[in-house]
Formats: sequence, structure tokens, C-alpha cells
Amino acid sequence: MSKRKIALITGITGQDGSYLAEFLIEKNYIVHGIKRRAASINTNRIDNIYEKPQIKNKKLILHYGDLSDSLNLYQIIHKVMPDEIYNLGAQSHVSVSFEKPEYTSDINGLGTLRILETIKNIRPEKEIKFYQASSSELFGLIQEKKQSEKTPFYPRSPYAISKLYAYWITINYREAYGIYACNGILFNHESPRRGETFVTRKITIGLSEIACGVSKYLFLGNLNAKRDWGHAKDYVEMQWLMLQQKKAKDYVISSGKRYSVRQFIIEAGKNLGIDIKFKGKNSSEVGYVSKVNKNCSFNFNKNQIIIRVDKKYIRPAEVEVLHGNSTLARKELKWQPKITFKELVSEMMEKDLKLVKEKIIIDNYRNNSSSEK
Ligand code: NAP
Ligand code: GDD
Repeated sequence: MSKRKIALITGITGQDGSYLAEFLIEKNYIVHGIKRRAASINTNRIDNIYEKPQIKNKKLILHYGDLSDSLNLYQIIHKVMPDEIYNLGAQSHVSVSFEKPEYTSDINGLGTLRILETIKNIRPEKEIKFYQASSSELFGLIQEKKQSEKTPFYPRSPYAISKLYAYWITINYREAYGIYACNGILFNHESPRRGETFVTRKITIGLSEIACGVSKYLFLGNLNAKRDWGHAKDYVEMQWLMLQQKKAKDYVISSGKRYSVRQFIIEAGKNLGIDIKFKGKNSSEVGYVSKVNKNCSFNFNKNQIIIRVDKKYIRPAEVEVLHGNSTLARKELKWQPKITFKELVSEMMEKDLKLVKEKIIIDNYRNNSSSEK
């Protein structure tokens, strides 16, 4: 029987970390993850792994840690001695990075260096493969219509610049020390597990709340922004594939299809049985219900305004368009995304509607029971 591989994931409590952990456990890996200490429970996305009876001999071990803490990372890596490290941990919100530029640089940039230094020091005792979660944000102010591994970078935020450092330090340690280290330059990928403040999830939660009568409007920023949105489940497979090759290399991962924030909203609306249109310009633009379809089971009215623009969500420097060309990954890694944009939006809407409805039931129950006291 072959020895089970050991993986260590930073950012295991995040969207990608949770899908990757499931994926690797299905592949019979022993999975270790680094979680941050928090006042409230922060393992919701991975708790389901413990509840899956169909996976035999699953092994998921969590360690307290932080990418800002060299000694702690050193000790965890020494103790675990993984075959593969997936560095997914990050202050991953672009907008927040303008408010916390130093912290973002420390965690995303130096955090990557801290891991690579440990990997370097462990050699030749053990060869550890390293995956770095690089980002299409590196392309920023795009220099080519569709961005590939060869497109020059033009980062537009402290987040993107911190990821630029991480990108190059990964390549540097590969070239200088022969470490198997690679960058996955991933375009936006979403899922029902996406953080609630990223635009897609904000839309699917926001529209669900309006449909259920919990709120009146959804406030957003730049509706013109265009992104190449894929499903996180498809993209974590790619992260693993990149570490299974003969030679370490960097790859762009994207769906190859591009949609605007407005198009995402329109598609989400269809799942509620309404057509949404937009009128007005800049911060006066609004989204309204142009038609309530027969299959709509919610209380929407024709011409009801549901989307408004709030300037506070406009970024100091914006990345207007991202559109990926992942020909290399598709050819060399034989990778294909399986989930379409429509399926992605539909899955997110379905899950968020359910969540909002459950929350209303719980809130009602709490209100009723407190008034009975
Ligand atoms: P996410 O949901 O925001 O998850 C980020 C993870 O990093 C969380 O587990 C978070 O822990 C952890 N983290 C934050 N600060 C940390 C610190 N100081 N020390 C250790 N861990 C820390 O992000 P994601 O969408 O899964 O993305 C995964 C990675 O891919 C990130 O590096 C992101 O920048 C990159 N990326 C994402 C996309 C995308 O579209 N999703 C595209 C390109 C690249 P808590 O749970 O405690 O907050
Ligand atoms: N978050 C947010 N909230 N974004 C909004 C809003 C809003 O209310 N209104 C419009 N947008 C626009 C943003 O200005 C941006 O142009 C676009 O929607 C997408 O924003 P996010 O969903 O926050 O994602 P992002 O593209 O900035 O960053 C994500 O993708 C990167 C890969 O390209 C993150 O996951 C990064 O970690 C990742 O590297």
C-alpha cells in the first residue's frame, strides 16, 4: 500500500481552503490546516468534512497559526513535514487593502516568504512542494485584452502589490534553490461559500433578503466592472494538478468568459422570477424590476427599485476588466472548468435564499420566545 500524502493548507477556513481540503481528503491525503484564533467559531466552512460518513479514514488536523508569525509557521511545518503546502491564507479583500495596506502586505507578501524560508531550511531533509495563490488582480490596469502568463502586470491596489511580491518571491525560490514552487494566477472564483462582502455573494444574499421582505435595497459600487467568474470547486482541482507535474510552472486559471456586475445581477434576478433593468447614470443609477414573471413566488412589483449605488463602495483605484486566457493550463494540465456561469449564479441564489429563509424563521422564533418571557 502506498504511503498517504500529507498536505498543509494555510487559509483552510476560507472559501478555497474548504473546497481544497475536501478534494484532498477524497484523494486520501492527510490534511493539516492552519486556522486563526478567533473569538467566535470560524471553521463553519470545513465542519461538514467531519460529518461526511462516506469518507473513510479521513484525517483533518487543525493547528492554530498566523501568517504574520514566522516561528509559529516554522514549528507547524517542522511538525507536520508535509509533502505539499498550499498557501491560500491572505487578507484577500481588495477594497480592505486600501484601508489596511501594511497588514495586507505583511500577511500576503511576507507571509509567503516566511513559508518559503522554512521550506528552504528543511531541505535536504525533505522536499516540500509549494503552491502560491496568485491572482488575476496582478493584471490590474490590463495591458492585453485577454490576460495570459505572458501579459505584463500592472497592479492597482495594496492587495495586488502584496500578491506581486508573493508571485516573484515564489519564482525566486524556485530559481535560486530549486524548490518545486508555483503560482496559480487565478481569476475570480465564487461559490455559496464565498465571503459575504465580495460582490457576487453580496448580490445573492442582498436579492434574497429583498425577495423575503427583510430589506428594501441592495447598495453596490461600480456596476460597470467586468470579471471572469468561475466556480471555486473547479479551481481547487487545478491547484492540486499544478503540484503533480514533472516541473514547477505558473499557470493562469480562468473560465474565459467575462460578465459585468450588472449582468450578474440580471442573472441572479432571473432565478427569482424577475427581470431587472437599469436606468440613470453613475451614482444615480438604479436597478429596478422591469417584469415580474409567472414563475415568481415573491412579492415584487413592476418598476420597484431594488439596486442603488453607494459611493462608499467605489475603490480609490479600480480594476475595470479582467478576462483570462488559460490555454496553457487547458493544454498542459488537461484542465477544463465544468460549472457554467448560469449554474454558478443559480447555485448561489438557491443556497442564499434558503439561508435567508432559515434566518427569518430563527429570528421570528427568538422574537416570539423573548416576548413570551
Ligand atoms: P478567503 O475566503 O478570504 O480566505 C482567506 C483565508 O485566509 C481564510 O481562511 C482566513 O482566515 C485566512 N487568513 C486571513 N488572514 C490570515 C492570517 N493573518 N494568517 C493566516 N490565515 C489568514 O479567500 P479565498 O477566496 O478562499 O481565496 C484563497 C486565496 O486565493 C487567497 O490568498 C486569495 O487572495 C487568493 N485568490 C482568490 C481568488 C478568488 O476569486 N477567490 C482569486 C485569486 C486569488 P479567517 O477565516 O480566520 O479569516
Ligand atoms: N466587494 C464589492 N462590493 N465589489 C463591488 C461592489 C460592492 O458593493 N460593487 C461593485 N463591485 C465591484 C468591485 O469594484 C470590483 O470591480 C468587482 O465588483 C469585484 O469585486 P470583488 O467581488 O470584491 O472581487 P475583486 O475582483 O476585487 O477581488 C477578488 O478576486 C481577485 C481575483 O481577481 C478577490 O477574491 C481577490 O482576493 C482575488 O485575488
